[in-house]
Amino acid sequence: MMIGIEKISFYIPEQYLDLAVLADRKNIDRAKFSKGIGQEKIAIPAHDEDIVTMAAEAAHPIIESCDYESIDTILFATETAIDQSKSAGIYVHRLLGLPSQCRNVELKQACYGATAALQMACGYVARKPNKKVLIIASDISRYDIDTPGEATQGAGAVAMLISTNPKIMEINSASGCYSEDIMDFWRPNYRKTPFVDGKYSALRYLHSLAHAWKDYQNNGGRDFFDFTQFCYHLPFTRMAEKAHKHLCSLNQTPLNMDQILPGMMYNRQIGNCYNASLYLSLISTLENYEGDLSDKAIGMFSYGSGAVAEFFAGVVQKGYKNHLYIKRHQGLIKNRKSLGYDEYLACWNTPEIQDGSEYVIEKNRNGKYRLSGLKDHKRQYESVA
Ligand code: CAA
Repeated sequence: MMIGIEKISFYIPEQYLDLAVLADRKNIDRAKFSKGIGQEKIAIPAHDEDIVTMAAEAAHPIIESCDYESIDTILFATETAIDQSKSAGIYVHRLLGLPSQCRNVELKQACYGATAALQMACGYVARKPNKKVLIIASDISRYDIDTPGEATQGAGAVAMLISTNPKIMEINSASGCYSEDIMDFWRPNYRKTPFVDGKYSALRYLHSLAHAWKDYQNNGGRDFFDFTQFCYHLPFTRMAEKAHKHLCSLNQTPLNMDQILPGMMYNRQIGNCYNASLYLSLISTLENYEGDLSDKAIGMFSYGSGAVAEFFAGVVQKGYKNHLYIKRHQGLIKNRKSLGYDEYLACWNTPEIQDGSEYVIEKNRNGKYRLSGLKDHKRQYESVA
């Protein structure tokens, strides 16, 4: 039985900050961001969007075009949780009008949560082959102003439908994992932004890659030379170059950028979206690779600080291009508003309501789903006709 991704879709906010604007403002050479970090733009959410609205926007095209009655599980992966108790997926479940016979749960392990969700979904569907699982990875990456992390912010959501009819990519069962208890990036409950030891985090990412790859090989994984493309978790796209160089050297072969460039194209324009980043890179590969990826293997590396890492693989299916949302995705990237520095700061500084007081948020963008305010300590979401 084949199991894997039947559909995959992303959503990003309608506004962005051009990193040239940030560089000029901070008196930093623009090439530091465009070449050193490998980013051009970072997505900035509007006041009336959060992980729930982005998730609903990402999943909407999938729900519109599939037999959604068979979805009986939503796995929501995020490290930007809006509640300590209730899963963000339950709001999405209502906004999308999904059947009540559908379970909901939220998963967390930094940027790795969505990969845990994918592996769990594949196992679940093997047990219940007539059911489908909706995975949503939705995050807002936010670092303090005037810190090195500021240029690596971003936001977005990816939704994936997992079933026994993987029209996009079959997920192979072999995988390799690596976990270690480290403090490279973490966000205590009382903080809006994370603590991060940036250089250390990048080193642990590479260390975890080597271990996860070794475990993948020990578990009967594919040979390095079987892969046509590789997708990496992308906190910033230059990280893929460092990671791939490391993996190539472990396999005694020179770095071949053609194996990763298609997977960096969308992320370069969007920035880090934590759990969604690796799967955004997968969509970028599928939609930007020049040629046909049918029957080709893609290597996937997931890294979540703290840290858990996993290397796994998938095989792209014949006819996959007919099931992608290329026009929609490219439209989302193209039709965005560029923010000035002060507008960006105003978004960044939007106060988080801490006391539950009533708060109304004006509608100032397009989009189907919005956070309209807070009342009686409850977040108010609405669908816009
Ligand atoms: N032209 C071209 N390149 C330039 C340049 C210029 N004018 N000026 C600097 N550079 C290069 C530097 O040489 C450097 O390249 P190398 O990495 O090849 O040495 C690169 O730009 C970065 O510059 P710095 O070394 O000065 O680094 P920084 O102080 O700007 O910090 C960072 C970079 C550590 C990534 C920082 O942005 C950060 O802390 N980001 C958040 C943490 C992060 O993303 N960690 C990644 C691994 S953890 C993870 O993956 C989980 C997650 O999602 C957070």
